[in-house]
Amino acid sequence: MASILQCMACGQQYPINSVMYVCEACGGLLDVEHDLDTLRQTHTRQTFDQRLGSLDHPHKSGVWRFKELVNPDVPDDLIVSFPEGNTNLYHVPRLAAWAGVGSMHLKHEGENPTGSFKDRGMTGGVTQARVLGMSRVACASTGNTSASLAAYAAFSGLEGIVFFQNKQVAMGKLAQSVAYNATAIRIDADFDKNLELVRQVSQDLGIYVLNSINPFRLEGQKTIVFEILQQLRWDVPDWIVVPGGNLGNSSAFGKALSELYKLGWIERIPRVAVIQAEGASPFYEAYLRGFDHLRPQKAETIATAIKIGNPVNYPKAVRTIRATNGVVERVTDQEIMDAKAMIDAHGIGCEPASACSLAGVKKLVGRGIIGSSERVVGVLTGHVLKDPEAVIGYHADTLPNLTGTYANRLYEAGPSVEELARILQRNQEPMLA
Ligand code: F0G
Repeated sequence: MASILQCMACGQQYPINSVMYVCEACGGLLDVEHDLDTLRQTHTRQTFDQRLGSLDHPHKSGVWRFKELVNPDVPDDLIVSFPEGNTNLYHVPRLAAWAGVGSMHLKHEGENPTGSFKDRGMTGGVTQARVLGMSRVACASTGNTSASLAAYAAFSGLEGIVFFQNKQVAMGKLAQSVAYNATAIRIDADFDKNLELVRQVSQDLGIYVLNSINPFRLEGQKTIVFEILQQLRWDVPDWIVVPGGNLGNSSAFGKALSELYKLGWIERIPRVAVIQAEGASPFYEAYLRGFDHLRPQKAETIATAIKIGNPVNYPKAVRTIRATNGVVERVTDQEIMDAKAMIDAHGIGCEPASACSLAGVKKLVGRGIIGSSERVVGVLTGHVLKDPEAVIGYHADTLPNLTGTYANRLYEAGPSVEELARILQRNQEPMLA
């Protein structure tokens, strides 16, 4: 049986190659559903292990290595791939100790071609745009989706169109979108309003929407989880911890884990913890109310990537929390920036939103929810160079309402050996023991 689109709310099914994002019958979100019963008989997880290190298109991609679980029927010559994925999983005992947990790995999605996990979704989405014969693709974005869309559109000869909120898009992301030749429009509205606008304009003008409401994006993002498990030799961790904004990753992770479990390729499902910024935490608030319903917020946080008050994937993310016995937590901007300073000082580095993962682990250990002997994998969603202004502001201690707790002072000196010696002979404690 071929893969299909299926409404998660009412179960209505549609052909896989329909241009649609929500159910025509009830407005519910759509899933791409694959024929797992056949896959269970024809493939094992070794099939995917054997493709590791492949030099061939499309299996050299960390997304398309798992093609049978992403978009099985797409012709290989339509796949748009840089390639992406194959990101490192760092073992970080010193950061684990700082967070109070026995074992921690960090999966660095900032190592993707445009510096964020979005590339995994975008290869899925832009490929599907080509299958559908679309010539223009668009998104609203806090910055990373747009950088990724711009690159993948340019790489495959499509027109990329990106809608930015007027303020607070990090400089690296803005620069990428312009450099990759997207039609880039700053709009005097926040992300949530821009997402409404892009959906409306795209419907009117026949443009393909590549926000994470597009289910083919999420199929690509599932491979973060597949790769983590492969890199751990399928030895399932206790927790996977991920930042939550529009909740695309949160949704994709639950689907990935449920599929692996149904296939019998993992013997148990790790718990998923979704971490939001305090000023943009509608999912956390709904979690506290037993997921009665989502109450949109006006979002505000230094982690501009996740400055989102009305996450479009809310129902799918609820499904993840329920399917994985997961939790939702929130952290302050100060906690985010301090955790980021730790990750950066480790030589790994990430953008502010990504540091929710480490800040969230520390908080959940403190609250006794993550046990100190449990095995944790945190996901770093974006590269340190995405938001240079946040880095410099923290270390110069000039960010409004925030303290550069672990600031690494930038020294100034004249061209004098004495002055340099004075600086280099100071006593400095190592930041990470
Ligand atoms: N981390 C980073 C670096 C992001 O760019 C985003 C989302 C998230 C986390 C949140 O992921 O939406 O799957 O919960 N950025 C989007 C964008 C919204 O437009 O670039 P999510």
